Amino acid sequence: MSAFLNLTYELEGASAIITLSREKALNALNRQTLVELLAALHAASDDLEVRGIILTGAGEKAFVAGADIAEMVELGVHDAHSLSALGHAIGELIERLSKPVIAAVHGFALGGGCELALACDFIYATPKSRFGQPEVNLGVMCGFGGTQRLPRRIPPGRAMELILTGDLIDAEEALRLGLVNKILPDRAALLAEAKATVAKIAQKGPQAVAASRRAVRRTDELSLSAGNELEQQLFASLFATHDQKEGMQAFLAKRPPAFQGK
Ligand code: CAA
Repeated sequence: MSAFLNLTYELEGASAIITLSREKALNALNRQTLVELLAALHAASDDLEVRGIILTGAGEKAFVAGADIAEMVELGVHDAHSLSALGHAIGELIERLSKPVIAAVHGFALGGGCELALACDFIYATPKSRFGQPEVNLGVMCGFGGTQRLPRRIPPGRAMELILTGDLIDAEEALRLGLVNKILPDRAALLAEAKATVAKIAQKGPQAVAASRRAVRRTDELSLSAGNELEQQLFASLFATHDQKEGMQAFLAKRPPAFQGK
């Protein structure tokens, strides 16, 4: 995985840790980085040892300060659409994965960086984190899903206010709004907590985790009755797995389960 220029890809226990690493540009997402991120996510998805993915940014200043403004300044309509499509492809891939993706945010998560974090299942942050969609300051708007995902994650009126003003919020406000799940004191604690969460999830049956994630992810687009129907189908499908028998037999025998992912 050493072929990446703008990110690092590390395996640690059950976690794949993807660190966006363009520190001089506050880890801004240029096209090359987006292409590499897609490849890294596919690699983590294909690796059976990986049970969760942690997305983070290098350095002490930023998770990701947005799409790369220097690369965008001269874009025309066609290339801007293609850049937006690439950003959306990453969000959609994250949504479709069978493994959880945690954003570990330390510093600025702005524009495309906030949108990348929003595509993840949940966000852990540090006190120095700042979130926002400042695209209107540049004469543009969210391009990697912010107009759709932010109002689904926090109260829609607050999302609209942030998107129209470009204001930034701190980690405490992000926590109050439910944008962030937890605040950890520093970068080391942040990554340790994200890895501990992946390790905890890795103890569970992989298919049960994947099916749960799939059902929860569909709530945005399904009616309550269609979502309930999906849940019934997925619940029933798990009874065709070894891990359902193992999990329930282990409970009854008062021993820990030995899940096999089948
Ligand atoms: N793209 C390219 N370069 C960026 C960048 C970005 N999004 N954000 C920061 N940088 C670069 C700066 O140009 C600067 O480079 P130089 O040292 O070569 O001058 C370096 O990173 C450090 O940045 P600052 O000197 O500005 O650092 P600061 O501490 O004074 O400010 C900041 C930090 C508030 C995050 C500020 O850098 C900033 O406002 N960045 C832009 C944030 C932004 O507007 N993001 C949205 C981008 S548009 C987008 O993302 C569209 C979309 O939805 C897809």
